[in-house]
Amino acid sequence: MKKIISVVGARPNFMKLAPFIRAIEAHNSSHTPDIQHILVHTGQHYDVRMSDTFFRSLGIPDPDINLEIGSGTHAEQVGQTMIAFEKVLRREKPDWVVVVGDVNATLACSVTAKKEHVKCCHIEAGLRSGDLKMPEEINRLVTDRLSDLLFTPDPLSGENLKKEGVPDEKIRFVGNIMIDTLEANREKASQLPIEGIIRDNLIPGTNPTFSTLSSRLSHLPFGIVTLHRPSNVDTPEILAHLVNFLADEVCDLMLLFWPIHPRTRKNAMDFGLWDKLIATPNLFLLEPINYHEMLRLNMDAKIMLTDSGGLQEECTVLGTPCLTLRWNTERPVTLREHGGASVLVGNNIELIRKEYLATLSQERKPERPALWDGKTAGRIVKSLMESA
Ligand code: UD1
Repeated sequence: MKKIISVVGARPNFMKLAPFIRAIEAHNSSHTPDIQHILVHTGQHYDVRMSDTFFRSLGIPDPDINLEIGSGTHAEQVGQTMIAFEKVLRREKPDWVVVVGDVNATLACSVTAKKEHVKCCHIEAGLRSGDLKMPEEINRLVTDRLSDLLFTPDPLSGENLKKEGVPDEKIRFVGNIMIDTLEANREKASQLPIEGIIRDNLIPGTNPTFSTLSSRLSHLPFGIVTLHRPSNVDTPEILAHLVNFLADEVCDLMLLFWPIHPRTRKNAMDFGLWDKLIATPNLFLLEPINYHEMLRLNMDAKIMLTDSGGLQEECTVLGTPCLTLRWNTERPVTLREHGGASVLVGNNIELIRKEYLATLSQERKPERPALWDGKTAGRIVKSLMESA
């Protein structure tokens, strides 16, 4: 019997862990049940819309343990997670701790596991943006340095690890676990009506033109925007330029659906940009939407404008032209030069405009990097069970 604790903390973790949990269940039902699994939620994301909804819609069981650390500075989040997780490890004494992605939970729990002499495995290892200003990059570097088993989504990530001196025998190229979730939910998502998604999630009082949405949808394309990185949303001038471009230029040619992250919503209000956003008839401000809703919108969007890494990957598989509002990416496999759908545009409005106009004449071009086949989680569980 192997005892495994897996950890989630923030929204992008949930779609990565869902297939892993299902693969454990499949393993236990087809062998002698020899994995005891404990799910820990650090509680970094705690809103119904940022957390609970994903558990329900992706069929993730309720966490066995919730550390309830909530919002705070990075040091507060990491410190409180470590204090609480150390107690969990001392009580449960697992064989393995499994961490995913690059959020504060990933860092805090990998460090705590190693200090307690528990083996640690990292799903989505080897991604590197090279940008140490990003908290996620620090989280990735530390977690990969400490992990005993590193599951990579693409060969470039394996190369990054080897360059850093990680021995070959710790690295397993298994593919992208996010795509397991995409493939498992594609059918269900495709049945959702777009108008219903907008109606159900429209932030009250933000767009009085909703009643004409369905007629406009019949003759206008739509785009999606998501922004949450401090580099885009924490500086008033930068956020103002982005808001003006989106409202004045993108919304001139298409409808724009914007599920707005809590951090961005607060800043847009504090920086005096909210009135402009709600006065733009083609702009629909939404509460954070659930996984199926985003997948449905992404299937038909003319363009994605985002600073999210996960959406870059989903756009690659769905073929949605994607403007990545960052200067670097830890996911080069999603870039056009590697066959993907995404192009880096930072927050330079001229560059964004040029690429935006270019995408208007682009067709959807779905791509499938090696082992992005929906079967990654099964490979991970098999490999974990074969390891000492
Ligand atoms: C975190 C991750 C980031 C990921 C993002 C996706 C880290 C270092 N960053 O950033 O990698 O891409 O999640 O969303 O772990 N808030 C709520 N409700 C919630 C959660 C947060 O209102 O359920 C508010 C917080 O109070 C805070 C802001 O949103 O003001 C940011 O939350 P935080 O958890 O600090 O990090 P994210 O920016 O979401």
